[in-house]
Amino acid sequence: MTTVLSSRDSTREFAFEKADFHKVQNMLFKKAGIKLSDAKEAMVYSRLARRIRALQLTSFNDYLGVVDKSEPELEQFINALTTNLTSFFREPHHFTALAEHLKQHPEVTTIWCAASSTGEEPYSIAMVVAEAFGSFKTPVKIIASDIDSKVLQKAKAGIYPLASIAKIPVQRQKQFFHKGKGANEGKVKVVDELRHMVQFKKLNLTDAKWDVKGPLDIIFCRNVMIYFDKPTQLNVLQRMVGMLKPAGLYMAGHSENFNMCTNLVRPVGKTIYRPVH
Ligand SMILES: C[S@@+](CC[C@H](N)C(=O)[O-])C[C@H]1O[C@@H](n2cnc3c(N)ncnc32)[C@H](O)[C@@H]1O
Repeated sequence: MTTVLSSRDSTREFAFEKADFHKVQNMLFKKAGIKLSDAKEAMVYSRLARRIRALQLTSFNDYLGVVDKSEPELEQFINALTTNLTSFFREPHHFTALAEHLKQHPEVTTIWCAASSTGEEPYSIAMVVAEAFGSFKTPVKIIASDIDSKVLQKAKAGIYPLASIAKIPVQRQKQFFHKGKGANEGKVKVVDELRHMVQFKKLNLTDAKWDVKGPLDIIFCRNVMIYFDKPTQLNVLQRMVGMLKPAGLYMAGHSENFNMCTNLVRPVGKTIYRPVH
C-alpha cells in the first residue's frame, strides 16, 4: 500500500491530505477518464502546487474548488496531469505497416491520430504519407487530436530539440525539417508543407461526441488507453472501430492488447488490428 503523506510533511509548502489526493483522482477520472494510481501522489503534488502558487491560493481544497467551477482552470488541471511522452517514429513497425497499407490501398483518405501529444506521431505519419505520394499535396487528410491544449500548441508550432530527430535518417531530416540557426541553434522546425498536412484539434476521448467524421482508413490510438479503466477502453475501442472502413487499421500502443476483443477486432500484426464488421 502506498502511503499518502499528510499535511504534517514539513517539507511541503501546502497541506496535501489523503482526501485531497482522492479528490484529484476522482476529478481527473470524471473529466478525462484517466485513472491515477496511488503511486502518482508525489507527481500530483508537485504539478498542482505550481498551479496553487500561480493562482496565489493557499490550499489544495481551495484549488480544487476553483477547478470545479472554472473551465479554464479545469483545462490547466488536465494539462498539468497528463503524461505526454512521445517521439518521432515511436514503435516503428506501425510506420512500416502504414507505408505498406498505402501501397495496397492508394484510395486511403483519412487517418486519425487520436492522442497526438506534442505532434511527433502525426508528423511521422505525414512523412510516410508524403513519401508514399511523392508529394506534400496528397488526398489524405490527417487529423491529430489530444485532450491537452498545451501539447497541441507545441504540436502546431512544430519546433523540437535537434536531438529529437537524431535517429531519423538524414534524407528525411533534410526533406522534412529546417535546422535552426543563431538564436534557434539546437532546434528544428517541421517544414510548413508537412505541418499543413496535419489538422490539430482538441478532443477528449471520453466525451460522448467526437468532432471527427468517419469512415476512417486508419486510427493511431497509441499509449493512451493504458490510462483508462477497462470499461472506458472498451467503449473507446468500440466507437473507434465502428468508424473504421472494413479494410481499415487500428494501431495500438505496445502495452495495449485487444486480442481478447474478438467481437470488435482481429489482430493482423504486432498491435495492429482490423475491424471484424
Ligand atoms: C503517453 S502520450 C502518447 C502519445 C502518442 N500517442 C505516442 O504513443 O507516442 C498520451 C497522450 O494521451 C493524451 N490523453 C490522455 N487522456 C486523454 C483523453 N481523455 N482524450 C484524449 N487524449 C488524452 C495525453 O494528453 C497525452 O498527450
